[in-house]
Amino acid sequence: MRHLISPLDFNVEELDQLLNLANDIEANPQKYAHACAGKKMATCFYEPSTRTRLSFEAAMLNLGGQVLGFSDAGSSSAAKGESVADTIRVISCYADICAMRHPKEGAPLVASEHATIPVINAGDGGHQHPTQTLTDLLTIHSLKGHFDNLTIGLCGDLKFGRTVHSLIKALVRYENVKFILISPEELRLPSYIREDVLERNNIQYEEVIRLEEALPSLDILYMTRVQRERFFNEEDYIRMKDFYILNKEKMTLAPEDMLVLHPLPRVNEISTDIDDDSRAVYFKQAQYGVYVRMALILTLLEVEV
Ligand code: CP
Repeated sequence: MRHLISPLDFNVEELDQLLNLANDIEANPQKYAHACAGKKMATCFYEPSTRTRLSFEAAMLNLGGQVLGFSDAGSSSAAKGESVADTIRVISCYADICAMRHPKEGAPLVASEHATIPVINAGDGGHQHPTQTLTDLLTIHSLKGHFDNLTIGLCGDLKFGRTVHSLIKALVRYENVKFILISPEELRLPSYIREDVLERNNIQYEEVIRLEEALPSLDILYMTRVQRERFFNEEDYIRMKDFYILNKEKMTLAPEDMLVLHPLPRVNEISTDIDDDSRAVYFKQAQYGVYVRMALILTLLEVEV
């Protein structure tokens, strides 16, 4: 039995297979419409979510399966003090696969150690968000055609943004990928990612504060929201929240084929005036999230179509 806890749980070859399957699902949805008939997915979300939870549920429904779960820790027995380990033992009796989001880093890993069904980490605190990474990789690969030789700008809250941490870990496995880390001093990428991932793998990177400085050289701009829920005090959040706003004027500095990704939700960091720009692909990205989660469910349940 396999789980997905970290973006590195699939090697590059397995990831290629997963992305190819997602592309086939996109092209031939009918072929997969009954692939999971009789199977159930539990979505156990101890933290708010729109995209991740609903795209998992849409994915399972598209595969002909069914879904059950909770979207708020307060409406589960966690509110009475039940441990994640006990909860997943019980969920294992009710469902064939579980996607779990939890504010505590490592909680889905603990769940996987006590589960008798595959567990998917749907985001654990400020740590990792591997299915967002799969979504980002599918978006980049489908729209750019490759991962090698890309210059990727990561902008915003690089300290708490778990999607950024997971994406970096996945992309360093490709040839000649370069990162431009765009953040205010207070929200720099943590040293454990800079040193243990980028420097250890001899990955080229630079850190800049001004978005305008980075834009002309980017193939991909990955915008992120300042993670209000991870700040210890509201004043710091208010000071940081509008540090970057990507708008029409700034987009004139970007190459014609640069893609703008964002895991969403956005707050102010991308002005709605660029939503119609063909380079703004964040809503397309959300759609890719369904295809890749369908591919993931099939893979972890070992369903062949
Ligand atoms: N991208 C993402 O994780 O969005 P949600 O928090 O809405 O699931």
